[in-house]
This record gives sequence, structure tokens and C-alpha cells, in this order.
Amino acid sequence: MISKTIQNAINEQINKELYSSYLYLSMAAHFEDKNLPGFAKWMYVQADEEREHGMKFFEHLVERGGKIELKPIAGPQTQWNTSLDVFKQVQEHEAAVTASIYALYELAVKEKDYPFQVVLQWFITEQVEEEKNAADIVQQIELIDAKGTAVLMLDHQLGKRGKE
Ligand SMILES: [Fe+2]
Ligand SMILES: [Fe+2]
Repeated sequence: MISKTIQNAINEQINKELYSSYLYLSMAAHFEDKNLPGFAKWMYVQADEEREHGMKFFEHLVERGGKIELKPIAGPQTQWNTSLDVFKQVQEHEAAVTASIYALYELAVKEKDYPFQVVLQWFITEQVEEEKNAADIVQQIELIDAKGTAVLMLDHQLGKRGKE
């Protein structure tokens, strides 16, 4: 049986992942509004992935005989000034999620919850990828910022993102 402490922590993390999904969906809406369908596509895929992350925690808690407690999802930001601002926020958000995954891992070690440590190892690897993806795009936008036309090229490239 899973400890109450780990159960509560997993329920919190489910909420964080679903909030991430909501945030990226809001960013997708922003890019639709700006007529940048490639950027929007990238965000839709990202939003789907975050829901899957939430489900990984959800399924683990169910498997362990724990109780799911879904909490309200906060409303995400809806407006940004520039595409660079959006992706800088993605980068910051992912860094914060990484910190929460590390905190969960420390808790799992402290509670001697070995199966949960295995689940978290997948997330630790995933966060390296997530942070790199965001950093790469921030860097690309910074490179093209002076020339507006290159935005359309990046939009085309991001639009090719498929399910990983
Ligand atoms: Fe996530
Ligand atoms: Fe993420």
C-alpha cells in the first residue's frame, strides 16, 4: 500500500501536469490568434504530452491502490506580448516542473518507495528533453528576432512536430 504522503504528492503532481497541459493549450490559442499555425501545432502536441504525463501518475496511483483526488485546475495566462515571451515562459515552467519532479524523487527515497522511484526516473529523463526543447526554440527565436520573415520559416518547422 502506498503511503499517504506519497499519495498526496502524486495527486498534487497530477494537478501540475494537467495545469501544464492547460497552459500550453492557452499558448496554442494565442498562436492561433496570431495566425502562426506551426507554433500552435507545437503547443497542441505539448499539451497532449502533458495530459499523458498526468495519466502516468494517475495510473501509477491506481496500480498502487491509492486514492485519486483531482483538484481544480487554475486558469492559465491568456496573453503574451511576443513569441519569445511565450517560449521563455515554457522554459521557466519546465524548469519549475523539473524541480517538482526532483522533490518527488527525494520524497520517494525518504519514504523508501522503490516502485515510485522507478516511475520518476522516466520523468527525470523526460524533463531533460523538455528543457532542451524549450531552450532550443528560445535560442532560435532570439536568432531570428530582428528579421520578421524568418518567423514564418520557424512556424513551418514547428508545424512538423509529431507525436514523439
Ligand atoms: Fe510534464
Ligand atoms: Fe513538460
